Amino acid sequence: MHVTSEKESLSNSVRHLIEGETNLISSLANISALIHQAWSPVSLWCGFYLVNNSQLELGPFQGPIACTTIQYAKGVCGKSWENSETIIVKNVHEFDGHIACSSLSNSEIVTPIIVKGEVIGVLDIDSEQFDAFNKHHQVELELICANIATQFFT
Ligand code: SME
Repeated sequence: MHVTSEKESLSNSVRHLIEGETNLISSLANISALIHQAWSPVSLWCGFYLVNNSQLELGPFQGPIACTTIQYAKGVCGKSWENSETIIVKNVHEFDGHIACSSLSNSEIVTPIIVKGEVIGVLDIDSEQFDAFNKHHQVELELICANIATQFFT
């Protein structure tokens, strides 16, 4: 296991963290811990939902307890799954159908993990701050999700 250097981008730190690892769940657990810590205090909740039984089911995460299942096209996570793209929500209270797992959350970013054109899960980050996420966060999360897809699904 590689220890993160301050100068490295988050996506590079994640790449090093999971290099050579073979267990998906262990790696997702470490990735959620790394992002949550790196983006503290912006990250209130950081974790994965994985597609199973035609729905999103809660995977490894850091933060308060969360909803265990999310249906296709429901909430920000389900929409990201449906659209196969990252969704940035500046104010979750204005997002139609937002699922509030924590009443403290005010903004959110969700990035899908895409394998051979199919979404197999999403990476979700919530913040207590409004408008906490921007293009930089999107780029980093998309690199991380692409890396997870390559490392564990090819
Ligand atoms: N807010 C998400 C639900 C998951 S929690 O934020 C951890 C949504 O609307 O899909």
